[in-house]
Amino acid sequence: MSNTSTPSNPMWGGRFESASDKMMEAINASIGFDKKMYAQDIRASIVHAAMLAQQGIISQEDRAAITKGLLQIQGEIESGQFTFQTALEDIHMNVESRLAELIGPAAGRLHTARSRNDQVATDFRLWVRDMVDAIAQQIEAVQQAFVLRAQEHAATLMPGFTHLQTAQPVTLGHHFMAYVEMLGRDHSRFVDARNRMNECPLGSAALAGTSFPIDRHFVAKELGFARPTANSLDSVSDRDFALEAMAAASITAMHLSRFAEEIVVWCSAPFHFISLSDKYSTGSSIMPQKRNPDAAELVRAKIGRIAGHFQGLLMVMKGLPLAYSKDMQEDKEATFDALETLSLCLAVMEGMVADIQVNAPALKAAASGGYSTATELADWLVQALGIPFRQAHHITGRAVKLAEDAKKPLHKLTLAQLQSIEPTITNDVFKVLTAEAAIKRRISFGGTAPKNVRAQAARWRKTLG
Ligand code: ARG
Repeated sequence: MSNTSTPSNPMWGGRFESASDKMMEAINASIGFDKKMYAQDIRASIVHAAMLAQQGIISQEDRAAITKGLLQIQGEIESGQFTFQTALEDIHMNVESRLAELIGPAAGRLHTARSRNDQVATDFRLWVRDMVDAIAQQIEAVQQAFVLRAQEHAATLMPGFTHLQTAQPVTLGHHFMAYVEMLGRDHSRFVDARNRMNECPLGSAALAGTSFPIDRHFVAKELGFARPTANSLDSVSDRDFALEAMAAASITAMHLSRFAEEIVVWCSAPFHFISLSDKYSTGSSIMPQKRNPDAAELVRAKIGRIAGHFQGLLMVMKGLPLAYSKDMQEDKEATFDALETLSLCLAVMEGMVADIQVNAPALKAAASGGYSTATELADWLVQALGIPFRQAHHITGRAVKLAEDAKKPLHKLTLAQLQSIEPTITNDVFKVLTAEAAIKRRISFGGTAPKNVRAQAARWRKTLG
């Protein structure tokens, strides 16, 4: 049985005597994944042909035939009638080869003044740019979901944690708004990345530019780019637009994983702060009482995949000499999967945030436990009695010890008990020792007081539109 495919590649086979080895074909071909960019490839080719005709490099008739043929190919791909061929390596040559079948020799004029190197750089940028736009919108949708829940729970008490130990009472709305801030920075990272990537490499040709009188400014404008790239070597070698998008994706996925983890913990029976509907939970095949927060667990996990792809492409690009090397074909699977995975996580997170059912009594009970108002007592000793903070901290420590021994919360100690530690304490102290009082007093800018949360939520609603 022959291990070779015949005939030799029709697109570049001129100087090759034998057909590709099957293994060569398997490692070399990218059509299995780069067909995802068919729409970008066709769009860029249509603009390129228009430019060639406008500059008098090809005739208007050839341009018309090329455009018609390309649109027919797009139709064939979208209706599932197109046969992708591994022997033709990639999306660029699959499209061009079909164009030759459809319109004959005029198809051969399309590749004038360009190379697959600038072609793939352009197609891929267009794909990443579209995805960045979609992700930016999705991030805003998740922010919007958090803001709505924050307004609803602006005054809902919950324990704030440090080291996952009860620290001080906060509001659930404030906690939700923390994610709105994180996602706001994530959004701006994607916007920045988009601005930097928005330059058109097409017309850089293989690496050195071209002797044809092309108009790169026209092409850039028609494809929605701000300008053409300024250096042809850089144009075909650069993949930092994909890396930057994946870096932004990794940070966003990290943020999502933190809330996903909180969902998992808060849903567990010992916490029972929240529950999720059947939409985002599954049952166990053996333990009938269980409702597992699978969707949250998976969002928590996906960061591994997304950040892994980022690292993967970073390693592919490291040490590559200029200009194009085939190594760079490894950019696509990583980037496609990283950005599509993030998009899925964002969609799931938006749904989960809206779905969360809050167990306010459990949150309130937990907010008051763990001596969460100890800092209130210390602050009151400073504010009402003028005691230096370090000393107030020490007095409070002794009060907590007394309450622990009496198996009571701080506010259930008697005045006499408190005065046994610090004789100048007055009845007024009881006004600050509950969790409700604690959150109301946290009015410093950025603090958890319900009125702050409402103001921040209103500000974001305006920004998000
Ligand atoms: N499929 C290739 C890629 O994704 C297209 C560019 C090929 N260029 C070349 N000189 N072989 O990188």
